Amino acid sequence: MHAEIVVLPGDGIGPEVTAAAVEVLRAVGRRYGHEFRFVEKPIGGAAIDATGEPLPADTLAAAQRADAVLLGAVGGPKWSDPKATVRPEQGLLAIRKALGLYANLRPVKPHAAALGASPIKPHLLTGVDLIVVRELTGGIYFGQKQRTADSASDLCEYSVAEIERVVRRACTLARGLRGRVTSVDKANVLETSRLWREVATRVARDEFPDITLEHQLVDSMAMHLLAKPREYDVIVTENMFGDILTDEASMLAGSLGLLPSASLGSSGAHGNAKDSHQKVIGLYEPIHGSAPDIAGRGIANPYATILSAAMLLRHSLGLEDEAKCVEKAVSGALDAGIFTADLAPDGHGVGTRAATAAVLEQLQAECGVVEMRD
Ligand code: NAD
Ligand code: IPM
Ligand code: MN
Repeated sequence: MHAEIVVLPGDGIGPEVTAAAVEVLRAVGRRYGHEFRFVEKPIGGAAIDATGEPLPADTLAAAQRADAVLLGAVGGPKWSDPKATVRPEQGLLAIRKALGLYANLRPVKPHAAALGASPIKPHLLTGVDLIVVRELTGGIYFGQKQRTADSASDLCEYSVAEIERVVRRACTLARGLRGRVTSVDKANVLETSRLWREVATRVARDEFPDITLEHQLVDSMAMHLLAKPREYDVIVTENMFGDILTDEASMLAGSLGLLPSASLGSSGAHGNAKDSHQKVIGLYEPIHGSAPDIAGRGIANPYATILSAAMLLRHSLGLEDEAKCVEKAVSGALDAGIFTADLAPDGHGVGTRAATAAVLEQLQAECGVVEMRD
């Protein structure tokens, strides 16, 4: 197949980890006979430096034309002055919104070989296989912001339609898994959460009678997630709760450097009939940030971005075999004890390039047979 993949390296370790994932995608392309064309564009701080804007029009246009987008991370101390009006993170929020990517899938499946990297007791981690569906284009991130001399406010707003579509996505996903959805909110305090709970209950009851839906308040969820992570299947929640809970959940896997994500929309995601035949573009990125503390040293863990590339193969290109192959290759590298510093017991791990080389080697071993297909 032919596919155009727009690569947005961004800032900090972003360029290091996207380079690793592109190498893996190129290898997959060669092995399976696909023609992947990579188009690199600036976003975030790098784009501010180059053009003055965190999401240049040319970057967005390229993403809209592409079959899929792979992103590293944005942000860093250089652009973090609280007084700045132009910020790298605005670029990321803007591209998510412009592409209608309301559902952010963040799977968490600790790998047996890396259990030692987690601060949680290993017996609690075996069998953990959950996925957080984070609402990505609404809530407090996108509400009106105001600042006066002595106060500031961020409005948290959700519409029924915004809640319905992400809950539907979570329930649909659960159908192919263990059929259980946990909806997380703060309905004891927030009006948006009370609406969220009402809508989630109705959608599950009317449209997914085969799914078991339970509700959990976000504060106790933060505790349960560490105390009994095996209990969870699909967790659906609003934008900011999902952001926070997934960084916490990364500790089940052992590192932020292991968690991938897929941000997806659906045709007509903008609620506009004219858009309903628009191409649906997915954006794939690790859940971690630009890690300024380790950027430029060649020691970042590339596995989360490589696993995001696997999600790209699956969700945007429909290449399930290829996606599985990449996932197996990362597992194989972990099984072989190829740990970057964030995973290594003594903190002395291999660098980004060596970890990527290990994945490529495993890819060869895992997918060698496929080369002889037809
Ligand atoms: P971070 O995720 O960048 O880093 C948190 C910690 O995890 C750091 O110690 C870092 O070294 C480590 N870490 C993260 N990814 C790693 C990897 N792949 N390998 C090894 N270690 C890794 O979070 P932060 O420090 O709070 O934020 C830094 C900047 O990143 C901020 O500007 C923030 O806005 C931005 N950010 C961007 C994204 C994104 O673009 N999607 C996500 C989160 C944070
Ligand atoms: C993430 C990041 C972003 C978010 C920031 C950088 C805007 O933390 O992708 O998890 O909060 O969504
Ligand atoms: Mn985050």
